[in-house]
Amino acid sequence: MNRNRSSQSAQPPSMVSRREFLASSSAALVAGNLGATKSAAAEPAAQLALNGGEKAVKQACTLGIRWGDPERERLNAMLEQRDLFYWKGPQTTLMLERFKEVCPVKYAQPCSSGTAALHIAVAAAGIGPGDEVITSPITDIGTVIGVIYQQAVPVFADLGASTYNLDPADVERRVTPKTKAIIAVHLCGNPCDLHALKAIADKHKLVLIEDSAQAWGAKYRGQPIGTVGHSTCFSLQNSKHITCGDGGIVGSSDERFGPLLQKFGDKGFDRAKGGGFLSFATNYRMSEPQAAVVAAQLTRLEAIASKRARLGNLLTEKIIGLPGVMPHQVHPEDRCVYWFYFFRIKPDAFRCDRAQFVKALAAEDAPCSAGYISVPLHREPVFQQHGFFAGRWPVREFGLTMMDYSKHQTPEAEAILKTGIRVTIHEGMNEEYIAGVAEAIRKVARHYAA
Ligand SMILES: Cc1ncc(COP(=O)(O)O)c(C=O)c1O
Repeated sequence: MNRNRSSQSAQPPSMVSRREFLASSSAALVAGNLGATKSAAAEPAAQLALNGGEKAVKQACTLGIRWGDPERERLNAMLEQRDLFYWKGPQTTLMLERFKEVCPVKYAQPCSSGTAALHIAVAAAGIGPGDEVITSPITDIGTVIGVIYQQAVPVFADLGASTYNLDPADVERRVTPKTKAIIAVHLCGNPCDLHALKAIADKHKLVLIEDSAQAWGAKYRGQPIGTVGHSTCFSLQNSKHITCGDGGIVGSSDERFGPLLQKFGDKGFDRAKGGGFLSFATNYRMSEPQAAVVAAQLTRLEAIASKRARLGNLLTEKIIGLPGVMPHQVHPEDRCVYWFYFFRIKPDAFRCDRAQFVKALAAEDAPCSAGYISVPLHREPVFQQHGFFAGRWPVREFGLTMMDYSKHQTPEAEAILKTGIRVTIHEGMNEEYIAGVAEAIRKVARHYAA
């Protein structure tokens, strides 16, 4: 029975679909691994672990404690200080120096979270009531919290089918006279098509903000992530590549916005100049203990980012060409740092639904789960009910926007969330482990091939 299924699924994809796929797949360009794909597809089907067969993943790979002597050294230095306030604090100063080596921007402000970083960037860009900001519907809600607090209006554009990042053509279609900015979310640490988005921003005089929360150490065409847009925002929340528990950094080299970042993260107060309040803002400051940890964590970043990039790309190489499976698409000149790996399955290609596919992967000990966020952001009840402020949305009530999220459509984003399978990638894994995960995906795909 299995053997029959195997020979069915071993059929190479049609020439058209294979050509289309290779044209868009970085791993194929990098690895030139068609031969490997053919032989993988021709393997006899092994019995699923779900049905009592041997597990494809033979070893466990746990992520150990992510801090140690470098953090201890910084924290000990911090304990010798009389003050723990950020302004001109030695830990903050060192941390920002190291940050600028990773992301060479002229101005950078540490803050309490990635959400805070994004709010600061949006406020510094002068975004206010009724302004529209185009962004991705598949992201953490922190991407748009600052937009909404500025009484501006998030407009969700659709995404690339396998990059899961903003589709520039759809972004441009959604530009109106009210549009003031684009927030490009580098989902999973996969760089957006920044040249295309920057061209749209320049053409329509928009501000391009990079949401690099998941993209520590990523590179766009060889360039550090966060240096193409007008400003960039990182998260240091616990699940990120580097962390201090919770924190963020916002950076910019643009003389219009960069000098404002400090004020908008620090109650509107200009610490360099002092004086009266010309702007109004909240307190998003980071303190010295967090900066001490981040300064140390930054010394670990390159090893973490390069390892994740290598492992994620390896997974693509090993599953590319598998019928019904769409690997995570990364541009060959970019470095994706795989906050997680995301592949899609084509529902018609399998005799099972996604839940069953994931259940079978889990039985193989592959670290997989279904989807990411449950629905595109605008389909969440708070958007559907336009109830952001105590159940109300003043800009809509006062006629500054006609936005109706119940009518907002992003079909590809919907499909991505329904067909995507998330694979954990972390720096504690090795090549052998990833080979096991790939084998699990191949095994399950062959077993359930339609
Ligand atoms: C893409 C993205 N943007 C923004 C945020 C918000 O960051 P934080 O949780 O640090 O506020 C996150 C956090 O997961 C994120 O993944």
